[in-house]
Amino acid sequence: MKHVVARADEIKPGERKILEIAGRSIGVFNVGGEYFALRNRCPHQGGPLCEGVLWGLWEAPAPGDIRYSRKGEILTCGWHGWEFDIRTGQSWCDPEKLRVRAYEVSVEPGDVVAGRVKGPYVAETYEVSAEGEYVVVDVPA
Ligand code: FES
Repeated sequence: MKHVVARADEIKPGERKILEIAGRSIGVFNVGGEYFALRNRCPHQGGPLCEGVLWGLWEAPAPGDIRYSRKGEILTCGWHGWEFDIRTGQSWCDPEKLRVRAYEVSVEPGDVVAGRVKGPYVAETYEVSAEGEYVVVDVPA
């Protein structure tokens, strides 16, 4: 089920918003204009993962050849430092087995979002416009 969580301009690049959606704490991040959403519960010992620091990826394909990339895409849990890919939720500690739940995020125009709720009864209606764009997180029921 899709949930409107914010106006797109409320979560600026480099910022995050942590909120309750369908009974789950979820962090919604803006990384360079792209939005991502992760469960705010670290799979290690349940720490508030989405409150952690965002870093980039350090790699060394050969001794002395140290490279830094993907700035702001690696989320580090504040409790014990486990790292997760913000795009997929995959752990860098044990990538084969460990991941945090990642949710699909979209940015939709206000007029699409405003027309989303429909019911079986129809009352007198008025024209409503919603300007701008909204961040929408898809959380399965
Ligand atoms: S609870 Fe997150 S690293 Fe331990």
